[in-house]
Formats: sequence, C-alpha cells, structure tokens
Amino acid sequence: MLRRLVAGVCLGAAAIAASTSAYAQVTVTLSCSALGIEMELCRAGAERWAEATGNEVKLVSTPADANERLSLYQTLLAAGSADIDIFQIDVVWPGILAAHFIDLAPYLPHDERHRHLDVLVESNTVDGRLVAAPWFVDAGLLYYRADLLEDHGFEVPETWHELTATAETIVESERAAGNARMQGFVFQGRAYEGLTTNALEWIASFGGGTIVDADGRVTIDNPRAAEALGLARSWVGTIAPAGVLNYAEEEARGVFQSGNAVFMRNWPYAWALANAEDSPVRGQVGIAPLPRGAGEGAGHAATLGGQQLAVSRFSAHPEEAADLVAFLTGAEEQKRRAIEGAFNPTRPALYEDTELLEANPFLAGFADVLDGAVVRPSSVAGERYARVSNAVYNAVHATLAGSGSAEDNLAGLAHSLERISRGGRW
Ligand code: GLC
Repeated sequence: MLRRLVAGVCLGAAAIAASTSAYAQVTVTLSCSALGIEMELCRAGAERWAEATGNEVKLVSTPADANERLSLYQTLLAAGSADIDIFQIDVVWPGILAAHFIDLAPYLPHDERHRHLDVLVESNTVDGRLVAAPWFVDAGLLYYRADLLEDHGFEVPETWHELTATAETIVESERAAGNARMQGFVFQGRAYEGLTTNALEWIASFGGGTIVDADGRVTIDNPRAAEALGLARSWVGTIAPAGVLNYAEEEARGVFQSGNAVFMRNWPYAWALANAEDSPVRGQVGIAPLPRGAGEGAGHAATLGGQQLAVSRFSAHPEEAADLVAFLTGAEEQKRRAIEGAFNPTRPALYEDTELLEANPFLAGFADVLDGAVVRPSSVAGERYARVSNAVYNAVHATLAGSGSAEDNLAGLAHSLERISRGGRW
C-alpha cells in the first residue's frame, strides 16, 4: 500500500536541476501544496536555490485539500520514509507531526526567530524545538464584487445579516435579468479543515468563543455559537448553492472568479488569481474584513492560517534541506511570492516594503486583520488536534446539511471534545 502511495506521489514529481547539473551535489525533495498557483511559485523558488547552490530539487505535488495532504504525510512519516526531505505543513500541524521533524534552529541564520510573527514562531515551537520555519500567513477575507454592489446601490456589508440581505437582493435581480447562475455567497463548506476555519470565524464573530479556550476548556456549546451556525445554515440553498457543502477553496474561487457570485470567503491567494489577466472579474473585486455577527461580544473575526516548511528527520540531507528552507522562507523569496501570488509574508518588516505595498495594496489592511485573527485550538490540543477538527467540521457540516439543529449538534460536539480532551485536561 505504502509503496503504491509513494510511487503515485513520485509520478507527479519533476526534477529541477541546476544548469550546472553535472556538478550537482545532492537531490533534495520538496513537497508543496497545489492551491491555485502554489506549485508554480514553489518551483520557481526551488529553481533559484538549485541555480545558486548546484544542488538538485525534486518537487512533489500534494493534494490541495488540507486533510488529504495530512493523511499522505502521516502515512509517509509513520513508515519512516526518506522520500520527502521537506514538508510544507499547515499552521495547525506542528503538534501533530513534530516528532518527525528536526529542530531547525541550529540551521537558520542567527536571530531568524525574531524576524517572523511571534504567533507563528510560537506555534512552530514544540517542546522547545523549532520544528518548522514560517513561510506564509493566511487569514480569512471577504471578497466582493464592487461592480455589482455599486450597480445595485449597496455598501460593503459590515455584518453577516447585512451580507445575507444584500446577497438575496442582488441575486434576485440578477437572476430576473437573465443571469441564472448568479449566487450570493460561496465559502468552504466541505467536511474538512477548511470548514473548521470558516465555522470558527462565524462563531467567534458572534461572540461565541473559539471552540476551546486558551486554557483548554471546551466552550463550543453556547447560544451565540448556535445562532452563528443557524444563520450559516440558512444560506445553504438560498444565497449559497446547495453544492457549497462540497466546496473547498478552489471550488469557491471557481464560482466567484467566473463571475457567478457576489461574495466569497477565501484566503489571500485568491486575490492574485481573481485579478490575473485572464480573470473575468479582474479589476472588479474588493476585499474587506469578514462581517461581524450580532449581539453582545460580536466583532470581526478572521481565522489565522498559513504554511511553513519542516525538514524530515528521515532526510538523508538535512543540512541542504534546511538551507533550502532558509532560502525559501527568507525575505527575498517571501516578497516575490507575495507580489506574484499574494502568499503573504510572515516577516512583519515586509509589510512596510513600498514595492510590495504598491503591488498588493490590500497588504496594509491585512496587517490589521492579522492583529485580530483567531487561532484554532491546535496548540492546546497538540497531537489531538486532527481529532478535534474532525469533530468540529463533522458537526458543522451536519448542521449546514440540515441534519440536526445547531443546538443539538453543538451539544454533541461539546461532548465529543470533552472526551477527546479528557475533560479539558488534554
Ligand atoms: C489554508 C490555510 C490553512 C488552513 C487550510 C484549510 O491552506 O493556510 O491554515 O488549514 O487553508 O483549508
């Protein structure tokens, strides 16, 4: 089984040799995610390092779906496979995978830790070891069609209720005018990690907490969380297509970018693609903080996401692998990736870079979004985080699909989380 899996992975791999490949020293294998143009950007960065060092880099493309990628990594790492030297890992995975990665601190330039956002360095430090280097940071954003809002006389919604009403009205009149495929709001509704990130935003924006609090207490069973999920459920089949229950990032972007949705929730990467030369909505897209909920404690909430690079402890070339990680997570590469792909820097200093701000004007506001970002309970849950998220997205998905009320499903979720966390003791 494992052999088949590995063979399958390597089929998609392409070797990048330095032009001086005759002198290549070692081959380092790097796994990148393939969300939007991620693979292309990863390849270009790896090529530059190969050129500069005379080493060779083999790229392994992995599934864009976070859960599928995690399963693949777990299978490879549990078997002690040396097939991949560098793993692109999600911000919520260090606690799950830490044991398989080397401590990068000795390999990175002195003081490197202090040049990244603290929150990311903290989440990548497990038992005092820096198990991954921050590469880019994500936060959920609201994308809107500025042209449609203007044509129909609406402002950018401040609250989820405003978004709902605005979407309803615009969809109704667009459809009446013959635009039968128009949708109001698309997001990530599939039962996977992405739904956990969306649900956390809805719940936190209604003042319903963060599922598990910083002390490890399970807080999800509360009326504000239920209200948030109740509203989200009302979107499915009305302002959102029924198919949203199977959408990940790329499905949502597909609908929005082809011009068929008023609003979309997505990560920053969608900005570069929505404004690419071949995009039907180029120049008509705006970005804003996600709306806030209603009632006491309501506010804007964006889930913190992002990716980092880790070196496998089974790697035959840890030094070269760590050198490639340092190169890819360095300031120059982060800047290039932000300009070309809106994969945003983990280095605060780059948020003041004028060239970068000119290329990506929303970056200035993004620093504020990051300031108020909410984190998933991955640090407190450690290696149990995958089970936590699984319980969360299944309960939320059932609610969105109309199977059980928000109240009942949240009570059931709280029960599961109590069990997983051994009564909040973890
Ligand atoms: C993005 C984020 C990551 C999140 C995932 C969910 O890749 O960077 O943190 O878990 O989306 O789909």
